[in-house]
Amino acid sequence: MQPRRLDQIFSRYGYGSRSEAKHWARAGRITVKGEVVKDTAEKADPFDVLIDGKPIEAPDGLLVLFHKPAGYVCSHDTREGANIYDLLPKQWLQRNPPVTSIGRLDKDTTGVLLLTDLGELVQRWTSPKHKVSKVYDVTVDGTLKPELVDLFAAGTLQLEDEDKPCLPAKLEILSPNTARLELIEGKYHQVKRMFGSQGCPVTKLHRSRFGDYTVDDLAIGQWRMVATPAI
Ligand code: URA
Repeated sequence: MQPRRLDQIFSRYGYGSRSEAKHWARAGRITVKGEVVKDTAEKADPFDVLIDGKPIEAPDGLLVLFHKPAGYVCSHDTREGANIYDLLPKQWLQRNPPVTSIGRLDKDTTGVLLLTDLGELVQRWTSPKHKVSKVYDVTVDGTLKPELVDLFAAGTLQLEDEDKPCLPAKLEILSPNTARLELIEGKYHQVKRMFGSQGCPVTKLHRSRFGDYTVDDLAIGQWRMVATPAI
């Protein structure tokens, strides 16, 4: 990677301010290629820098797979109540740019949520143009009619206050009140609005897949880093 000033590196990756980095350097806590560096104006490749013997976290971007629990909003606004960022390392929020979710899930929705500090990835994976498929396990209040399968597949379902109809979506009815829905877009509250428009309010929603990512082995509230794809 391009060499950068050490103090910039520590603030970019969320470790602390430039003045904090200065103190760490003076205390001999920072090394570059094994040599203690006491001046944070010095430049280095972030991959060569250690703080307290540990490498800088994810210098070329961070991608995290998170099993979102119910009861947390996907928002950086602390006024909206308990939010997912309370459950994640503080350092990720202090990165610049900060880690943010790729799309959002409602407060009561559980399941796969990806987070990153790579703006390009957010753009790519939230745009319907890139056709990233998302699968939702849905429970409704009411009885799902078989006609919904063709209706959702037709690409004609017009939701209130939307310019365009929903893109074709694949619905599999699993029981009178449960279904699996695969979408490639993410309009505001889309799943709830699709079922709600057909007289079947959603009572439980879980995203079981986002692109190739699933939370099979991750307990609710747990996260793990995943490799960043080539963009
Ligand atoms: N659609 C919704 O209605 N809610 C979600 O959380 C995700 C998709």
